Amino acid sequence: MGQVRHFLTLSDLSKPELYALIVRAIELKAMQKRRENYEPFKNYVLAMVFEKSSTRTRISFETGMAQLGGHAIFLSPRDAQFGRGEPLEDTARVLSEMVDAVMVRTFDHQSIETFAQYSRIPVINALTDDYHPCQLLADMQTYHEVRGDIKGKTVTWVGDGNNMCNSYINAAVQFDFNLNIACPEGFEPMQSLLEIAGDRVQIIRDPQDAVRGASLVTTDVWASMGQEEEQKLRLEKFKGYQVSPDLMDLAEKDAIFLHCLPAHRGEEISQDMLDDPRSFAFPQAGNRLHAQKALLEFLFNNSNQ
Ligand code: CP
Ligand code: NVA
Repeated sequence: MGQVRHFLTLSDLSKPELYALIVRAIELKAMQKRRENYEPFKNYVLAMVFEKSSTRTRISFETGMAQLGGHAIFLSPRDAQFGRGEPLEDTARVLSEMVDAVMVRTFDHQSIETFAQYSRIPVINALTDDYHPCQLLADMQTYHEVRGDIKGKTVTWVGDGNNMCNSYINAAVQFDFNLNIACPEGFEPMQSLLEIAGDRVQIIRDPQDAVRGASLVTTDVWASMGQEEEQKLRLEKFKGYQVSPDLMDLAEKDAIFLHCLPAHRGEEISQDMLDDPRSFAFPQAGNRLHAQKALLEFLFNNSNQ
């Protein structure tokens, strides 16, 4: 079996590989804006397994594959056999016979680890309960485009210590920035990640204290997919953790705001936050396309199938 590279968390790539990937994403974006034809992966096929809803992830992977000259197939549990109990191990082996890479959005992170173990083609994590590394590629690209290198800067995460927050901790290590996390008690990110990150990541309960000195402020929904029944309890627990233009005023003068979207206005962000000039949430969403094209190119070029 040849070498195969997966992207299950940001730690699957080295620091130089990640940095080069962001630079490449910016280059691919410029090429796309010029409508330059770049189709190195003609007839390559990406299978997309979605066990949770998606707008951005699906559109960006499907569009990205089309622009690279390939094709993408959408699979959901409603109509694929894995929804009727076919083991993931078998699905991974079957897909490896026919397509060139697979993207998986699922619940338990262990499932994607198992999937990768049985896969001979690159496996991409398109969100699990624990991580959302593809989103971080777009976030890092966006910061780089609008403010330059993030190395040495302070980033503040406000809200739930969820999959996005965990991936921000990985990013703090991989891209060398400091991360302040403002979350209520009981909603902390993974302890093991905090231990690996060491001093560069701090939990600062008060959002107002946490955003001081921040060059990037970011947040996410208070109830992630799969936590719908906790919505009411979470509304109560996260009171005071809303990001608003007033909170942004306490951050650095040139601070920007990012949100992976979808957003709940009136909950984790104020009604006007996405319209504030400091918000780059929509270009950030657009960068999913370019960052993932760079990722696909990296994985195809570094895996011998
Ligand atoms: N940010 C993100 O992953 O969006 P979707 O759930 O719409 O794919
Ligand atoms: N934390 C959110 C991110 C959605 C893109 C969720 O898991 O639902």
